[in-house]
Amino acid sequence: MKIAFRPMTPEMVEYAYEDYRSSGLKDSPVLAFSQLPEADRQLEIERATLYRKLIVVATEVVGWIGVRPRPELGQIHVGFALFSKFRGKGLMKPILTKRIEVFAKEEYETLRREFPIPELYATAEKGNIPSIRTLEGCGFLKTELEPFPKGFDGIVFRLRLSE
Ligand SMILES: CC(C)(COP(=O)(O)OP(=O)(O)OC[C@H]1O[C@@H](n2cnc3c(N)ncnc32)[C@H](O)[C@@H]1OP(=O)(O)O)[C@@H](O)C(=O)NCCC(=O)NCCS
Repeated sequence: MKIAFRPMTPEMVEYAYEDYRSSGLKDSPVLAFSQLPEADRQLEIERATLYRKLIVVATEVVGWIGVRPRPELGQIHVGFALFSKFRGKGLMKPILTKRIEVFAKEEYETLRREFPIPELYATAEKGNIPSIRTLEGCGFLKTELEPFPKGFDGIVFRLRLSE
């Protein structure tokens, strides 16, 4: 499978939120996005454009994947979504595997001073089986850490990067 990562655009950030919402998934950050005042929505779009990449499989844009340093948590977080018509085919596991590989080889070094332990974190909602299975399939392990934001009914996963 030919997987490539391309820069995210503001239009695709909005498309992804709309696709997520219209596919009936309930997720607090997404609900929050549609309810944000315009200025905050623009901030969220800027942030997402910075940390997320579009995923291209063969010639199709199938979703996004983000790696975001969170200095306030002392953690680097990964997040991802496939656009609705590409879900349910096991696509994300090889995509996440490749994104982790690229991060470990080409990007972690520049963050090492601030994040000396080579590891990635991800949070999945407790009932989100496809996400949990994807993370576990890529080697992430459950932790007892408190999910972020507070009150989010999720499980925090951690992956130690091999160097
Ligand atoms: C999470 C997401 C990226 C997973 O994408 P995907 O590659 O299409 O995942 P699949 O639906 O193929 O499922 C992945 C695995 O979960 C298993 N699975 C899915 N639903 C299941 C269920 N109800 N019960 C048991 N297993 C299930 C699949 O069999 C597969 O297992 P395998 O890895 O052993 O083959 C996708 O569902 C998505 O974009 N969801 C919306 C956004 C989201 O939730 N992002 C994650 C936030 S942390």
